[in-house]
Amino acid sequence: MFREDLLKGKRIFVTGGGTGLGRTMTEHFAALGADVYICGRREAKLTEAADEINARGGGTVHTRVLDIRDPEAVDAVVESIFAEGPLDGLVNNAAGNFISPTKDLSHRGFDAIAGIVFHGTFYVTHAVGRRWIDAGHKGSVLSITTTWVWTGSPFVVPSAMSKGAINIMTKSLAAEWGRYGIRVNCIAPGPFPTEGAWARLSPGSGLGDGDYTDQIPLGRVGRLDELGHLAVYLMADGSEYITGQTVAIDGGSMLGGGGTFWGLQKLSDDDWGKIREMIRAANDKDKAARKG
Ligand code: HXC
Ligand code: NAP
Repeated sequence: MFREDLLKGKRIFVTGGGTGLGRTMTEHFAALGADVYICGRREAKLTEAADEINARGGGTVHTRVLDIRDPEAVDAVVESIFAEGPLDGLVNNAAGNFISPTKDLSHRGFDAIAGIVFHGTFYVTHAVGRRWIDAGHKGSVLSITTTWVWTGSPFVVPSAMSKGAINIMTKSLAAEWGRYGIRVNCIAPGPFPTEGAWARLSPGSGLGDGDYTDQIPLGRVGRLDELGHLAVYLMADGSEYITGQTVAIDGGSMLGGGGTFWGLQKLSDDDWGKIREMIRAANDKDKAARKG
């Protein structure tokens, strides 16, 4: 979709870049020439991703072991990256989640998610953003949220609350940091099957097939490359006038099931013929009554 050198010379930090969507975005950025820093807690996952992507050519992937729940560690890692040169982009992708009835959550269960998504995302954004402002360097922050920022979602309340907070951080910082040349946006994906998400959101129940995709107007889950393309677009210079926005990439899943008549999509042409006749009969009856 893009010119091969589109991101050449860019330096981008992707949290949670060793797996899933973070790894896909890293692959796309590096393929288009960007140097990418990825972080996570599992060194082996980071090294595996970096080695595989670096073997393909393009930009270079560097790794940093980091738990973003630790603000001092975040600051030290961001400092070490800037010591090698200023970043141009940050992707807040790292997250934690699991499904659970909210009544069964302990406060530690809530904190396990909020610590990563709510606090960790802020720590990283703050550490990178203040360096950009101090240096007078423009930059772009892209955070991965979910469509729950608009709809909410049962059984994932700590995640939905924390992602909603990132959505508001995005709008707030877009306004506050625009004058420094920093733009701040979000991507809100619908379901994209990844090992990390499916193990915690669909532990053995087949999310992503059968009845579940029935709720997605486009009839399928997302393809990782589709998300990679959107991330590249929002990170590239050509989208420089976009800030404070959250772009859904969900096959319409946020809209499926919500509208009053969603269930009618199951009706056949024959069913619709009968419905039309019934409505016409009701109209005719009213018309006759009006004529007296
Ligand atoms: C209820 C649970 C629980 C569960 C843990 N807890 N799992 N409570 N139901 N299934 C509670 C524990 O009982 C404990 O509280 C507290 O949480 C901390 O437990 P730990 O075992 O120490 O948790 P931790 O090791 O921190 O692991 C939880 C985690 C972990 C942070 C979520 O799985 C993780 O690091 N995940 C990262 C990757 C990930 O989640 N990826 C998916 C992203 S998908 P008590 O009180 O008992 O001590 C996503 C959106 C997808 O974000 C959108 C799809 C459309
Ligand atoms: P994933 O593979 O589990 O990604 C989560 C990543 O975050 C992992 O690489 C993990 O690495 C890292 N991480 C978690 N806690 C961390 C911490 N404390 N410090 C540093 N890194 C941490 O799942 P995914 O599906 O790709 O999810 C990626 C993003 O997309 C998340 O923000 C998720 O909410 C969002 N999303 C996913 C979907 C979907 O359908 N897959 C839909 C909507 C939104 P370590 O465990 O090694 O630390």
